[in-house]
Amino acid sequence: MTNKLKYFVANWKMFGNLASLKSANKINYYISSKKKLRSHSKIILCLPNTLIYFFKKNFHSKFISLGAQNCHQDEKYGSYTGSVSSYMLKNVGAKYVILGHSENRITGESNNVIKKKIKSALNQNLKVILCVGETLKEKNKKKTFSVIKNQIISSLGKKFNTNNIIIAYEPVWAIGSGKIPKTNKLETIFKLIKKNFKHKKAPVVLYGGSVNAKNIRNFSSVPDIDGFLIGGASQSPKKFIDIIKNYYK
Ligand code: PGA
Repeated sequence: MTNKLKYFVANWKMFGNLASLKSANKINYYISSKKKLRSHSKIILCLPNTLIYFFKKNFHSKFISLGAQNCHQDEKYGSYTGSVSSYMLKNVGAKYVILGHSENRITGESNNVIKKKIKSALNQNLKVILCVGETLKEKNKKKTFSVIKNQIISSLGKKFNTNNIIIAYEPVWAIGSGKIPKTNKLETIFKLIKKNFKHKKAPVVLYGGSVNAKNIRNFSSVPDIDGFLIGGASQSPKKFIDIIKNYYK
């Protein structure tokens, strides 16, 4: 087991109801029973907003941090029907928020809006998981790094506390598709991200896109990957736990 802290972040997307809290608690139970694993891993569950408070209240987990999957750019309250602010997320127990996910970018969320969302989240002392990644078309045109670079630069303000920003590299073509990048490509991209966006120290950078219990070993040979943002497979406690187990095998 490596000494470096590894992140396993579940992104439940728009799935889950009150009954799914039992699944979340299975993960809690597993982590609680594994002292060694706990000291090397950070487990974050980014649940739907409707479940964050219930999880916090029912399970009082010391070992699992909670996150949300998006927030409005206005920090507190406003006439924005259907939206939830970073203040409201913080208030119900979120410590993290995923921002800039490609499933939101595709509906028109710009880098500029993402920047405002990051600012509001940081102001509320939420840690941000900023998703970046290229489409298949951009990959084929060999634009992967320039796309990522632009997404990062355009959404980070000069005064942002980058210690509270985690980057998640999620190639759009890998999300939910069962396809994953080649190991040598990941090595290069992670090195470039870490080198180019270094402030006092290199950023924490996660990989996301079709991570599952079978392919997780492919990633453990890339030391620059600090952890994973896991979508589909994270909705089943067994699959999520198997990913963690197999990573350390
Ligand atoms: P996936 O999703 O693991 O289902 O590919 C990852 C994500 O969208 O964060």
